[in-house]
Amino acid sequence: MAIAAIETLNFGLGRLVEAARTRGQELYLLTVHRGFYQHELAQEYASEVEIVDVETLNVEKVVTALKEIPDLQGIIRATDLWSSVCLEAAERLQLPHQNTEAVRLIRDKGRLRRHLYERGLTRSSSVVFDPHTTEVNELAQRLSFPSVVKNVAGSSSQNVWLVKTEKDLAPTLEAARQVHGLSALTAEPYFFGPLYSVETLTWAGETRVLGVTSRTLSPEPYFREETFSFPVAFPEATAEELAAWVSGILEATEYREGFTHTEFIITADGFELVEINPRLGGGKLGEMMSQAYGINVYDAFFDLALGQRPALMDVHLKPRCGTAQVKLYAPEAGTFEGIDGQELLSLHPGAPALHPTRGAGDHVPATVDGRGVVASLIATGETTEIAYHNVLSMAGKLHVRMRPAARA
Ligand SMILES: Nc1ncnc2c1ncn2[C@@H]1O[C@H](COP(=O)(O)OP(=O)(O)O)[C@@H](O)[C@H]1O
Ligand SMILES: [Mg+2]
Repeated sequence: MAIAAIETLNFGLGRLVEAARTRGQELYLLTVHRGFYQHELAQEYASEVEIVDVETLNVEKVVTALKEIPDLQGIIRATDLWSSVCLEAAERLQLPHQNTEAVRLIRDKGRLRRHLYERGLTRSSSVVFDPHTTEVNELAQRLSFPSVVKNVAGSSSQNVWLVKTEKDLAPTLEAARQVHGLSALTAEPYFFGPLYSVETLTWAGETRVLGVTSRTLSPEPYFREETFSFPVAFPEATAEELAAWVSGILEATEYREGFTHTEFIITADGFELVEINPRLGGGKLGEMMSQAYGINVYDAFFDLALGQRPALMDVHLKPRCGTAQVKLYAPEAGTFEGIDGQELLSLHPGAPALHPTRGAGDHVPATVDGRGVVASLIATGETTEIAYHNVLSMAGKLHVRMRPAARA
């Protein structure tokens, strides 16, 4: 029996291979660029995955490639960018898949907020506009300040602007107009408080909270993600309130099956949604969850692909340890060369492990958002707080090296 993943990017190919092996299923990876998996394909487990080279954003070609896989039973959808290809291919091959319309709604941040506002699930609606055709004064009248302006379908904290006052609006529009292909933006109130994400799994409309992740961000005006810790220990009452809140939101979107990574802020007036990612958390969050619980959460991808209730909906979840992650950024845009200090990893408490996302010679285009990440450092600890200190301590001992620019 075969299962095909259409691009997994940085979501954890190793864990998928491990799950496939345990279940006795064959795993295929369809990819447009093997270079995405440079690090994973250099590992021993790489021989256990069948790679299919295909233009993965071309649904016709993907369907043709999938038809050639013997005994294909399901498709794994891990990433945002390939969502519609995965869903359309599954539909065409009559394989199980998620509610396509729910995934579309969730991935449109402007439409989602309006949808939730109409149902009393967020305190404000959104203002969706095209930066090329919108006039500053007209837009200013429709917004409250401070606001956040962002791409309706953004990711990696790219193209997110904090608009503190009306005066920031003109430079924001100007900056947005410079971004190639950016035509739909959404503006919403700037919610004030710490950011978390709640990791969930839904089956047949029932949502289970798998845990909460805390994070720290760079100083504003950017929203660069710096660290993650999992799981957060909330007081029981808060955890129950959160579970009811996120279940209500997912129910309102008719997202009836699959993982979510739902970001929210705890404001002085309670929870407020930032965005829902209709998938497992990226950036190695699945790895952290797997380590914390001593299970392989990626196993649920196979149940979902097969259209079965994931075993993860019912297993007892008790953290065995805490986990924390530091995103290592290039100190400046340019050519990434390497990370110094790795010989110290094995000597440091918390079993810190480096997960590279860029290889030597890769171009780093920017450092103010997710494009600047070169690796993730993950460590564990007896508690989440200890894991956090372990990972911060180790991160301080590593040094990201860039190739010096050629002298003029
Ligand atoms: N309405 C908001 N209020 C406060 N911060 C926000 C808001 N919207 C986005 N942000 C910040 O910007 C970051 C990126 O926005 P998000 O919608 O999560 O896009 P992405 O898909 O790029 O992660 C968030 O993690 C959060 O820190
Ligand atoms: Mg986000």
